[in-house]
Amino acid sequence: DRQDALPRDLEGRRVVVSAGGTREPLDPVRYLGNRSSGKQGYALARTAVQRGAEVTLVAAATVSLPDVAGASLVRVGTAEELREVMHRTAADADIVVMAAAVADFRPTDRATYKIKKTDRDPDPIALTRNPDILAELVQSRVNGQVIVGFAAETGDSAGDVLEHARAKLKRKGADLLVVNAVGEGKAFETEDNSGWLLSADGSERAVALSSKSHMASDIWDAIVALIEA
Ligand code: CTP
Ligand code: CA
Repeated sequence: DRQDALPRDLEGRRVVVSAGGTREPLDPVRYLGNRSSGKQGYALARTAVQRGAEVTLVAAATVSLPDVAGASLVRVGTAEELREVMHRTAADADIVVMAAAVADFRPTDRATYKIKKTDRDPDPIALTRNPDILAELVQSRVNGQVIVGFAAETGDSAGDVLEHARAKLKRKGADLLVVNAVGEGKAFETEDNSGWLLSADGSERAVALSSKSHMASDIWDAIVALIEA
């Protein structure tokens, strides 16, 4: 554990970190969700507190995780709720880290009462696009604010993991993109992460497979380097 050697290089910085996966309700008892555990976001928040930052952790659904001592916690459910809290808290933040897995779509209708089964097949579930919170935060960025995005990529016939990630960094306009290679048991619900850190200035750094807390330290190192540049 690197805790003893942690620099206090985030002293006086206000940081907002989102974590976990949003849940988009279909009715009072059902939702569309994703497999994000929230562990990487929590590790980022914990490391930021240890390095001296004033931290707000915005947590969507996560596996059971210990609270981050010293951080203020705001819980959210849907992408719309996350959006509202992120805009409010980012307004006076120095650094915003979007580690949450935001549902790209939500059910168009949310039933007031539990949907009952009948003797027919159900209607298909109609979906609507959710807002792109990271892109919005970039649009409303305050002076000097550093905005960090995440991308989980598998690569496909259109390009490999890095090609997709470079395009995503451009599209979103973030200062830093943390890229995880996913698939084949990587990243989700595991203790370890591996990937790349891509900066808007074109610099790219591979991050070796390591614990999420080690990865958090590497990410904060890169953010501090951006602030100091
Ligand atoms: N993100 C967001 N709002 C969304 C979707 C994603 O703020 N509606 C953020 C995530 O928190 C992450 C980054 O954008 O920091 C990239 O998310 P990702 O799902 O990889 O990107 P998308 O643009 O949704 O592209 P796709 O899922 O098609 O790969
Ligand atoms: Ca997405």
